[in-house]
Amino acid sequence: MQLSMMWKLFFKPPPPALARLHIMIVVAIALSQSGGALAQTNNRYQTFRFGVCYYPEQWPESYWEDDARRMQECGVNTVRMGEFGWALMEPREGHYDFSLFDRAIATMGRHGIKTIFGTPTAAPPKWLTQKYPEVLDVFETGQAANDQSRRQYCYNSPVYRQLSRKIVEALAQHYRNNTNIIGWQIDNEMNNENPECFSESCRAAFRIWLQKKYGTLDELNARWGTVVWSQIYSDWSQIDLPFRTPAFHNPALMLDYKRFISDSATDYLNDQIKILRRYRPDDFLVHNGVFKNINYYDFSRGLDIYALDNYPTFQDSPRYSTGAALTQARGFNGRMMIMEQLTGPAGQTYLLRTPQPGQMRLWAMQAIAHGADGLLHFRWRSALRGAEEYWFGVLDHDNVPRARFEEFKQEGRELQKIGPQIVGSKVVSKIAAIKDFEDEWVFDYQYLTKEINIGGVYNALFQAASEQRYNIDFVSPTADLRKYKLIFAPQLALMDDELAGRLRQFVEQGGTLVMSAHSAIKDRDNAFTTSAIPTGLTNVFGLEVDSFQTYQPPSYTNNTLQFDDGSALPVSVFAEVLHTTTARVIGRWEQDYFKDDPAATEQPFGKGKAIYYGSLFNLDAARYLIRRYAGEIGLKPLLAGVPEQVEVTRRTKGDIDFYFLLNHGDSPVTVNVGDGFVDVLSGGTAFASLTLAPFDYRVLKCERSTKITRPYLSNTATNRQFRLNTAKTF
Ligand code: GAL
Repeated sequence: MQLSMMWKLFFKPPPPALARLHIMIVVAIALSQSGGALAQTNNRYQTFRFGVCYYPEQWPESYWEDDARRMQECGVNTVRMGEFGWALMEPREGHYDFSLFDRAIATMGRHGIKTIFGTPTAAPPKWLTQKYPEVLDVFETGQAANDQSRRQYCYNSPVYRQLSRKIVEALAQHYRNNTNIIGWQIDNEMNNENPECFSESCRAAFRIWLQKKYGTLDELNARWGTVVWSQIYSDWSQIDLPFRTPAFHNPALMLDYKRFISDSATDYLNDQIKILRRYRPDDFLVHNGVFKNINYYDFSRGLDIYALDNYPTFQDSPRYSTGAALTQARGFNGRMMIMEQLTGPAGQTYLLRTPQPGQMRLWAMQAIAHGADGLLHFRWRSALRGAEEYWFGVLDHDNVPRARFEEFKQEGRELQKIGPQIVGSKVVSKIAAIKDFEDEWVFDYQYLTKEINIGGVYNALFQAASEQRYNIDFVSPTADLRKYKLIFAPQLALMDDELAGRLRQFVEQGGTLVMSAHSAIKDRDNAFTTSAIPTGLTNVFGLEVDSFQTYQPPSYTNNTLQFDDGSALPVSVFAEVLHTTTARVIGRWEQDYFKDDPAATEQPFGKGKAIYYGSLFNLDAARYLIRRYAGEIGLKPLLAGVPEQVEVTRRTKGDIDFYFLLNHGDSPVTVNVGDGFVDVLSGGTAFASLTLAPFDYRVLKCERSTKITRPYLSNTATNRQFRLNTAKTF
């Protein structure tokens, strides 16, 4: 290849909008070709589901009836079962035996308990992996996963795909008329434990995926910039998965690899969706868990509801990180439940701390407060043997009901009253943060400094919004932005014409947009462009990024953004120096060679305002920016004057607002909520001043049109008036 041609290839401006459009068309065609078989409908999931994950295969059958009776006593209406039962369902290839599950489902059914059945493909039986070792997941070292655990399969293996379709079809056929089954969990926690695979099947599938995406090698070479380090491909077979290399990989390859993983997982899921929809068109379909390398907006599109597995004790202080995780999951396809909720002590080779009495129930209510329309605890009884023997359930190993059983019973009985009222209500937010999985993937590889933590940024935004008593949503870059008033764009490294256009339109039409540093720096090929940064948005913000400093950890000691109102915020990783064209400077750098240069700006644009923050959002920045801009546009908090240890959320259905008050503290606390509320649990009028016991909660409701007539004293006994926001516009 001539040098001039290589030069052209390298600098060929990629058509990001076209590329994105192309992907959207391919997805749309794929969906329409499936004849709507993947289509979601809200009608399939209607009632609040409460219950447990149940493993009848791990216990003598003599236990089952008693289990069902006790569950019923606790208000359980749903169990999940079957998801690890393949070895029993198909003991030899092609020989099916569902009798154990038939009896277990029927036992539950006799007690009014419905079943969500798990397709068992997360744990293939021994005969399968022994006979077809090519189905095994392969580690980056090239070594195949050992099969003595779970999730050891490659979902691009054609053999595995065929065998999993067969078992799912056999299951769906067998249960096609079973009225005790109401929904299906497909597989279990995809990408937990094996978020990458380096098998021959993946290698072949990756090449095909790239051929479909790029069409020609010239196109791929140009957009990946393979002229760098002499990486020009002349045959598709030269392209490989990102195995270990002496030096670094091409960032374009790394991003496409993640997209490929996500698309592969989605394709595998959709295989099962199509089968289940054919045999059980009225059942709801769900998948559980959130892990790496999956774009959950795409992944969940064919499901009726998405389930988070919620184990707060993985964190020491879980209040805000759990709230953020719930907020994120709620945004995937608009409907959320919890398939596995923490119950007690938990661990495998490790052991997490034990929840304090009351926390199990509180954390369950927190999930519901953030939008869950159902919740199952993991698990009914602690296992005697096997990998999960340290993961405690509602009952201990000896089957004796102790404190957790009583707490679970209380929770279940309360949810019998609360669940039917709140099911289908939505968390309505006026503040949103855009969450683009592709940006997360960019930073996974080009992590820049050890302090870059994109998950931490969303936690910070959630925490700041929650502290200031606002609901917040995390939304896809393709979401309808018009329903929001204040949008955060945290380090959206990748920008395309379509997203830039949508952001511009949001501001033009009256929205307030706050974007952080290191946004709009590259195109969807993960490549820099010849445009000024922020790409496609310089006129919206009225600036160009002139230059930047990168501070190593702990970065916050290195510089400060000084604001026009006297506030000073610590820098986070980047200090960008902004060259304003039309923007007004609202913050300047305090130190370094660019001392006093612009660090933050704002500019009115159309009917709205665009704010640029020249560093990453840390908790200080999130707190400051929400206070300043939510205040400026007049957003009212959900409830005023609520003590810090109490979390507040609001779900809305029609004209009814449901307020959730959650006491995360281990001491009692009084909340003055004012008049006009009904206690959802008791059905009676709520006291204007409520005392919540440690880890207790209340759900209150009121009609949005209700007038709050009486002012209330605040907790600090000042004469501040408590104002409940009942304005229709909020
Ligand atoms: C989840 C998984 C369950 C169980 C649970 C507790 O990740 O889906 O099968 O393993 O954790 O360990």
